[in-house]
Amino acid sequence: MLAIRLTAEPDRLATVALPVRPGGVDDAPAEPVPAAVALPDGVADTAAALAPLARLTGRAGEVRDQLRPGAVPTRLLLVGIGEGDEAAWRSAGAALVRAAKDETYVTFSMPAGVSPEAVRGFVEGLLLGSYRFRLGADADAPALTGVDLAVADPDAHEQAVELARTTARMTRLARDLTNTPSSVKNPQWFAGQVAEAAAELPGLGLRVREPEQLAAEGFGGILAVGGGSASGPRLVELDWQPAEAATHVVLVGKGITFDTGGISIKPVPAMKLMRKDMAGAAAVIAATLGAAALRLPVRVTALVPMAENMVSGDAFRPGDIVRHYGGLTSETTNSDAEGRLVLADALAYAVQELKPDLLIDLATLTGANAVALGTRTGALYSDNDQLAKDLLAAIDAAGESAWRMPLTADYVEHLGSDSADLYSAPTQGAGSVLAALYLREFTGDLRERWLHVDMSAPSWCERDDAELTRGATGWGVRGLLRWLATLA
Ligand code: BES
Ligand code: MN
Ligand code: ZN
Repeated sequence: MLAIRLTAEPDRLATVALPVRPGGVDDAPAEPVPAAVALPDGVADTAAALAPLARLTGRAGEVRDQLRPGAVPTRLLLVGIGEGDEAAWRSAGAALVRAAKDETYVTFSMPAGVSPEAVRGFVEGLLLGSYRFRLGADADAPALTGVDLAVADPDAHEQAVELARTTARMTRLARDLTNTPSSVKNPQWFAGQVAEAAAELPGLGLRVREPEQLAAEGFGGILAVGGGSASGPRLVELDWQPAEAATHVVLVGKGITFDTGGISIKPVPAMKLMRKDMAGAAAVIAATLGAAALRLPVRVTALVPMAENMVSGDAFRPGDIVRHYGGLTSETTNSDAEGRLVLADALAYAVQELKPDLLIDLATLTGANAVALGTRTGALYSDNDQLAKDLLAAIDAAGESAWRMPLTADYVEHLGSDSADLYSAPTQGAGSVLAALYLREFTGDLRERWLHVDMSAPSWCERDDAELTRGATGWGVRGLLRWLATLA
């Protein structure tokens, strides 16, 4: 991760970047923002002359690059900050690290009187926009190792930078886990990664259940889905329990390390990215680690059922009846509706044994999420208006996107089965809604304190865009961390 340093006396001046904002009225040219600390002679004048010459608009993420042979700085970058809100600063940070990737250091001149939100957004943009996933040697790795932020009072901004660092570090961890090929990340490996990350932070408890234990305790959904794989399933329970916590949140995340669809096998195009089917698990683990790193005074338990949905002689079949933790049964009409089976066990266990105040789950649950809302927006469900509103606000503030969807009462009857308590995948009704209604059946007493997000769509992106880089997005980590901080 890039080293971010706050300084009142910038001394690495070979490459300097300055913010520019849109001119006042209509099509007025962009103008440089007055700096917080003195810059080398001539820089401010050059920038002021350059902005109109280069026809800069100042829109967030716009970058103009000027080489100045023999001068200090040798390279001057003008970076648009748009309206100067946190999201615009995030885009600006991401654009800067892309434009400056071949330099070793960049010094960015912060505006006088810059807000903590702007600093946080900018640093998140720097640290997320420079993310890349690479296994093995990386011949064309970016040269950029550090960004210095020139501010008048470094101490005043240290907290915003630290928040951004932790948020970005955890988002990058979720991206790494999700991008990792499924030949590497079987359930056991994932549990090992959680153990390694947890060991670096004080105050975390970890319990990993192996197949024997899952069988002894009746986790029939996890065992059914994981049964077809040579790599057995796990239930990972990571607990951040600060002494002063008044609220307990359980975060459940879908952890399918690869989803072939099972016996109801997926066609080639639908299967190709199914290593991402544990993005929910990655997000809730990373958010819980983030709560620990920030020492938020709220108890957070991440509960992630990990399994690989494979095709084999031991795989569960369409029509099998599965008995979940706590006793409810599902007729498994389609083995590709596997996520809800493992989540059902985890939700029931959370309700019956952990008894939290609030229960949230994140899952790459249905292709229907993208049909309804496009590629960037999660589908959020809850019977609790306040909880839905709070989560949506946090997700939005963090620069992620979700939209509340209805738990349509008319569809509930489709969940009925002749031979079991529930059908896992009814064929009538909207797919993402039905999956949510199915999960709700396992929330027991916590029905009104439960919230579900189908994040199939925003968990992945096809091309670099602002702070997102092609591949896993780490969606959910930023929103959850913001929301957890509001409970503190
Ligand atoms: N993991 C998939 C959902 C998915 C699809 C995630 C595309 C990300 C991108 C899930 O297990 C699944 O297969 N869902 C089925 C449900 C159906 C069988 C009821 C789906 O969406 O088709
Ligand atoms: Mn599936
Ligand atoms: Zn799946």
